Amino acid sequence: MCSIIGYSGKDDAAPLLVKGLKRMEYRGYDSVGVATESNSKIELKKGVGRVGEVNAKFHLENLPGKIGIGHTRWATHGKVTDVNAHPHPSNSGQIAIVHNGIIENFEKLKNDLKKEGYNFLSETDSEVIANLLQKNYQKSKNVKNTMINTVSELKGHFSFIAMFDNGQLAAARFHEPLIIGVGEKNYVLSSDVLGFIEQTDEAIYIDNGNFVLIDQDKIQIFDFDGKEIKPLITKVSKEFADVYKGDYAHFTLKEISEQSETIFKAGEGTKEAIVETADYLKHAKNIYLTGSGTSYNASLVGKYLLSKYAKIKSESIISSELQFSPDSIEPNSILIAISQSGESADVLEAVNIAKKADCKIISILNSLTSTLARESDIVIGMNCGPEIGVAATKSFTSQLIIWYKIIQELSNEKMEINFQEISGAVSKTLQEHNNIKKIANEIKEISDIYVLGRGIHYPIAIESALKIKELTYIHAEGIAGGELKHGPLALMDSKVFVIIINPEDSTYQDTLTSAREIKARGAKIIGISDKYSDVYDFWIKLPSTNELTYPIAETIPIQLLSYYASLEKDTDPDYPRNLAKSVTVK
Ligand code: G6P
Repeated sequence: MCSIIGYSGKDDAAPLLVKGLKRMEYRGYDSVGVATESNSKIELKKGVGRVGEVNAKFHLENLPGKIGIGHTRWATHGKVTDVNAHPHPSNSGQIAIVHNGIIENFEKLKNDLKKEGYNFLSETDSEVIANLLQKNYQKSKNVKNTMINTVSELKGHFSFIAMFDNGQLAAARFHEPLIIGVGEKNYVLSSDVLGFIEQTDEAIYIDNGNFVLIDQDKIQIFDFDGKEIKPLITKVSKEFADVYKGDYAHFTLKEISEQSETIFKAGEGTKEAIVETADYLKHAKNIYLTGSGTSYNASLVGKYLLSKYAKIKSESIISSELQFSPDSIEPNSILIAISQSGESADVLEAVNIAKKADCKIISILNSLTSTLARESDIVIGMNCGPEIGVAATKSFTSQLIIWYKIIQELSNEKMEINFQEISGAVSKTLQEHNNIKKIANEIKEISDIYVLGRGIHYPIAIESALKIKELTYIHAEGIAGGELKHGPLALMDSKVFVIIINPEDSTYQDTLTSAREIKARGAKIIGISDKYSDVYDFWIKLPSTNELTYPIAETIPIQLLSYYASLEKDTDPDYPRNLAKSVTVK
């Protein structure tokens, strides 16, 4: 996944593009580039590295002109090299493009263009867009017709921005996000609101299958057949302004620390959607829960809660797996899709499959303007504010809170859930940070960590292992306590650390027994519990609370441990290698 940005207005384009790209780096950050137009000439600079590095090396922000495009890349087709970085110029140099997505028929297009004499410099699929535009432009000499002809030839998922050396910008959206920030005689085309939020809070969300032409201060939107569409300007949430690290060293730390507050915001203002969801769940024949990564892990918690507290059976399905068993979705069922971004391609594909089976789509979402929001019948908002750190933290606990609210509603509000107490427990576990920092130092050289939990703590163990992997690059695995003796015990020795999630509830004694079995094999034990035991080599204290507060409280120390261990290992917690915040390609 990548971020694209384009600027046309009265200010110098390059510094604004660089700023916007920095904000959107979470979408992909292996290489970066900017191109601008000035005096009918396109100038372009790009290279491998983060925005700050490439800018320091090539002075991207000094490129001249009031019109420009930029890109941060997360490699899919072609290695991470300077040449593969975007923007890509067309052969004539009269057009340059930036692209997010995948052009599925690029090989055929490339071969056809080669036969007509076009050369290709990069290994990317994206470069065909530049040359296809050039070919079509040379024929029609008209940007609108060029766009209509070009998009009709592209297969796959794309949003791209093309800059012509006559100073025009053109951009198209097909299953990848594209938003326009509308300033005073300035337009910013962007993958995300974060690309322009410092300049304006007025935006036009481009619909799927539409393209845009910007010429000086004139903007026109068309569908792919060329029919003009009236632009609809909306105000973006002022929450997006909250995209600064403030006093925090990293977004990840900021986002972990915000959780005592975000607890109160989850589901806020969407009471009706929660009531409606509960009603559907009561009467549904089949209920499927889906998501990717952390959001899938939240679905496992949801499945547990629905079964235990509402006696409702559901099935959790990893979104990317659904395409291989589409028939497992019974017609007229309910699909609850969980996603922070609402843009994960796998989740959208799962939704697509469920829609074909006439399922009701309910989504648990942070980004309420996302594609998933528009594809859903009911939307429940996490409202936890922008999550920039690639590893999901506060969105996970918000997803859990929404599940709590759903089961509370299913109990006709009889079930008491003390959100104040949950928030208090989060604050208390956050105070463990000095202790956790020391433990982070102990695990930095370790190559295997296991996280063990039972019952509702098992999905938390899986999520914890994911956090450790993402942030520290240490191999980690979540284990259901009872499964220890069915395999993982063979791996226990003095080189291994095991995190035991062991609050004093119905799982406590069995999990303590597991801890002793592990300790007897020489592994080191980190106990996360409200009750001290001498079996723990390291103890992270939890506040004593109840079954619904524990999962959230015990999530925090492992997020912090992963964060501090990443610092010990000198890796960047906000932007882990090879990952992207929302993966919009399959
Ligand atoms: C990526 C991110 C994960 C995230 C997953 C699902 O893999 O790196 O942190 O959990 O996508 O994202 P979503 O936006 O759908 O919740």
